Amino acid sequence: MQSIARKIEELKKDHNAVILAHNYQRGEIQDIADFTGDSLGLSQQAAGTDADVIVFCGVHFMAETAAILSPEKTVLLPDPQSGCPMADMITAEGLKKKKSENPDMKVVCYVNTTAAVKAESDICCTSSNAERIVSSIPEEEDILFVPDKSLGAYVSSKLDRKMTFWPGFCPTHHRILAQNIEKRKQEYPNAKVVVHPECTGDVIELADLVASTTRIAKYCRESDAKEIIVGTENGIIHRLKKESPEKTFIQTTEQATCPNMKKNTLEKVLWCLEDMDAENEVTVPEDVAERARLAIEKMLELSEHSPALKT
Ligand code: 13P
Ligand code: SF4
Repeated sequence: MQSIARKIEELKKDHNAVILAHNYQRGEIQDIADFTGDSLGLSQQAAGTDADVIVFCGVHFMAETAAILSPEKTVLLPDPQSGCPMADMITAEGLKKKKSENPDMKVVCYVNTTAAVKAESDICCTSSNAERIVSSIPEEEDILFVPDKSLGAYVSSKLDRKMTFWPGFCPTHHRILAQNIEKRKQEYPNAKVVVHPECTGDVIELADLVASTTRIAKYCRESDAKEIIVGTENGIIHRLKKESPEKTFIQTTEQATCPNMKKNTLEKVLWCLEDMDAENEVTVPEDVAERARLAIEKMLELSEHSPALKT
């Protein structure tokens, strides 16, 4: 492992590359990344970096977002097969059809969408800014929220605002059941419960905090709780333990593992930097990128900034 990490470090210097990793990536990838964060933080880093190459350790839509924001840079996805099943639950054609039936609706798209879907949307959001983005749309406008019905329902109830939802969902977060949380609460009666808003409503009801992965990490660092039940993808527990080794973090179920996030490995990070192969490069046609960029930039303008590299 050591020598792979060392080789990656050398190749990073040769190519002026930066490694961005999502909080659900394998621990060994988080450990060598320049920045580990949530979808919003990662897109802000991708927009702001002066590196020539971005190795994006996440899933395809995240690398696409980086390519849209930094079209002059080379964006590499270590495993080109790492997609997001939720993002694949909506197509640009399906969205266009829905828009033609509801021409006055404003479309808010979760960042977990393809570039082509973003290009058909008015504004993008992530789990960390969804309430703020929806609130930015005047009350009299109708909203179509795509594709995550769970995040949509959570935001709708928080803001007491009716919206139309696309019927998409995250298969990994929907594997976390209310009964898993209840069982953990019996085992750890003093534990706090944190969950991601991609979870179902009955799971969300049992939580002390509902937040994006980076806000979950912040809460876990700052909370006085000694035991915390973690209702999101299990990969985040690596970071939580590293940041607070004295606390106990409890996964809800082994099932809460996203197979796509785990497709990237340390070896694949090394190989993609060695080969700089077109197979790993993520690009977006400029006509699509131009329209998708508008939706993403509108979101970034309304969002708080995350810290610079090396967090
Ligand atoms: P965040 O890290 O933005 O909360 O997103 C979670 C997720 O499921 C990404 O695929
Ligand atoms: Fe997609 Fe869910 Fe995996 Fe995130 S955790 S990449 S939303 S399937």
